Amino acid sequence: MPEESMTEQRKAEHVDIILKEKVEAEHNFWNDVHLIHESLPEVDYEEIDVSTKLFGRKLNAPIVIASMTGGFEAAREINVNLAKAAAEVGVALGVGSQRAALEHPELEDTYAVVKDYDVPLRFANIGAPQLVEQEGKGSFGFEEAQLAMRMVGAQVLLVHMNFLQEVVQPEGDKRAKGCLSAIQRLALRLPVVAKETGAGISRSMAVELKTAGVIGIDVGGLGGTSFSAVEYYRARKEGQAMKERLGAAFWNWGIPTPASVAMARTGLPVIATGGVRSGLDVARAICLGASAAGLAKPMLEAAKQSADAVVKELQLIVEELKTAMFLTGCANLNDLAGAQCIVTRPTSDWMEVG
Ligand SMILES: Cc1cc2nc3c(=O)[nH]c(=O)nc-3n(C[C@H](O)[C@H](O)[C@H](O)COP(=O)(O)O)c2cc1C
Repeated sequence: MPEESMTEQRKAEHVDIILKEKVEAEHNFWNDVHLIHESLPEVDYEEIDVSTKLFGRKLNAPIVIASMTGGFEAAREINVNLAKAAAEVGVALGVGSQRAALEHPELEDTYAVVKDYDVPLRFANIGAPQLVEQEGKGSFGFEEAQLAMRMVGAQVLLVHMNFLQEVVQPEGDKRAKGCLSAIQRLALRLPVVAKETGAGISRSMAVELKTAGVIGIDVGGLGGTSFSAVEYYRARKEGQAMKERLGAAFWNWGIPTPASVAMARTGLPVIATGGVRSGLDVARAICLGASAAGLAKPMLEAAKQSADAVVKELQLIVEELKTAMFLTGCANLNDLAGAQCIVTRPTSDWMEVG
């Protein structure tokens, strides 16, 4: 099969597996973060303001619909439903890796549909492994990155780091040397945010990325969708025993998202993605120092139904966030960022190290 069609097929399989199989990490670490109840909140619920600014754009809530899809026919409708809802609720939206469209321009439309909606902040998406030459393949640079941003009308480019997935994937790209300097070259000319995809970002990595010139970090930590798990199912289907075993062994690999949020705080905006499943988790993320929280799988499940289902899910998340703020006496996100929280084990063990 040509490389382009393989990318398309892989994208479709990922969505399919994530919707049908058990693909989450064993432990959701957000339950280790506890906000402190205030019996007399001294704030009226109706006054609570969850609006924020992220990368200069005003959002009605500190929520990002995390990068997921594009590059195959059925992805168009998912992206339409996500974009409609992001515009209606006033939250940020990412598209999935745009490699498929950069290699196969007739697929552009499956991503570009998000431009038809008034989404307050859009993220383009390309992979760090594609910024260096992989075996038998060329690499993407400034031109492709700029094209990817224009394709979806993005204000910010996410460069995703997914070497865990690449290494357990049957056909994965495993050359990693030179990615940091490639990110640095892009960041000189474009607003780049570095994003992990389920294994988290350590403190030292966050410092290196900041030095490389990124304008923010999406920690994409452990606790939600595990791409090692996703690749486990693909390898099993393809009868690739070694990759199947790797997928199983590294199912729970990575830095828990809440710990990674604490580790990645270097003064740049931090997005907390990975296992966020409620507005209470969003509140926990803000309290730990994140500027916003990202959700992927729950948004995909809703988007497979309709744009209305995504709107409903987002509205519920906002209600949960406001409820957590009410009960902690926080009138706005600044108050919440200044509030105290208690972190228990095992997440607290990670925080001690980092
Ligand atoms: C179907 C699907 C496809 C994804 N594809 C991408 C991608 O192309 N680029 C990327 O940066 N992250 C991708 N991700 C990772 C998510 O953005 C997110 O980091 C991860 O799923 C953890 O969030 P969750 O636990 O809320 O699902 C994908 C996630 C899902 C569910």
